[in-house]
Amino acid sequence: MGSFKPLVFSGVQPTGNLHLGNYLGAIRKFVALQESHDCIYCVVDLHAITAQLVHDDMATQIRSIAAAFIASGIDPQKHIVFNQSAVPQHAELAWIFNCVARIGWMNRMTQFKDKAGKDRENASLGLLAYPSLMAADILVYRATHVPVGEDQKQHLELTRDIAQKFNIDFQRRIEMTGHAVEMVVGEEHINGYFPLTEPLIEGPAPRVMSLRDGTRKMSKSDPSDLSRINLMDDIDTIAKKIRKAKTDPDALPSEVEGLADRPEADNLVGIYAALLEKSKADVLAEFGGRQFSEFKPALAELAVSVLAPVNAEMRRLMSDTSQIDAILHDGADRARVLAEKTMADVREIIGFI
Ligand code: TRP
Repeated sequence: MGSFKPLVFSGVQPTGNLHLGNYLGAIRKFVALQESHDCIYCVVDLHAITAQLVHDDMATQIRSIAAAFIASGIDPQKHIVFNQSAVPQHAELAWIFNCVARIGWMNRMTQFKDKAGKDRENASLGLLAYPSLMAADILVYRATHVPVGEDQKQHLELTRDIAQKFNIDFQRRIEMTGHAVEMVVGEEHINGYFPLTEPLIEGPAPRVMSLRDGTRKMSKSDPSDLSRINLMDDIDTIAKKIRKAKTDPDALPSEVEGLADRPEADNLVGIYAALLEKSKADVLAEFGGRQFSEFKPALAELAVSVLAPVNAEMRRLMSDTSQIDAILHDGADRARVLAEKTMADVREIIGFI
């Protein structure tokens, strides 16, 4: 009986443009994890239709997330990049998990409550079952680690609850069919078919806030495009958005404590630090006492130097879809082999013939 091999899985929805917050918070982490782990990165198009069914340009959205992954340095040959709907085993396992998970678990999800709003009866059934599909994304590869933002922590806990309930409900059949794997949970050694997946939460990565309001997260749904830097923005647009970013009239402080109650200053210093992979204290050691009129051009220059190559490569990939489509097809072919292996086991564990 082996143990689970470390494997990273994460997903990004093809809705709206990727922005600097996604890049610094998620994608750069995906890139770094390639050095230490096998990684599977998925464009979760089935999730994208849960909140809104019809999208004008779904295909372009899917390709642009994949292009952002590749342009940022994800290697689709060593690792796997694909879109979810091309591997039907995700939806198949999600159905099984719909029968493992309880309605009460889904009703408690804060993201469902937020997205469904007041008229919960009118939300799609898919929106309610969203976390069950997310659990299937992860567990169809029996992935052990999932890099996600803080907002997905509850969905990862639910993923563990589903894995654990499946392992317990089918315990006898998992043993009988020879599919048990030993895992260590805390001090205990337990057997099961699905691992209890761990989130890799942002860590030192910053919360990138809106450029118009330092108290709100940078978001692809903010109506003001000036509030965010999109990965597809050209150099002039990036520079303009930073120039127009909201600030206060004071000079930058020399200590991090001086950023308290100055959300816009804190955000811009945080972005500068994240782009350089340094701490805010390091940035303030250099810029403390200086005005935004000096700091903003430095920030714009730094942002452009990091993002321009990503931007150029994304544009190149998006200008001819054949290369990105070939990458996605190849990724899906390889993902399907892995996912089908799990589904064959799961069907046998359940007793389907
Ligand atoms: N729910 C995630 C988000 O909105 C996207 C997602 C879907 C995901 N399936 C996943 C993330 C599996 C990690 C693993 O950010």
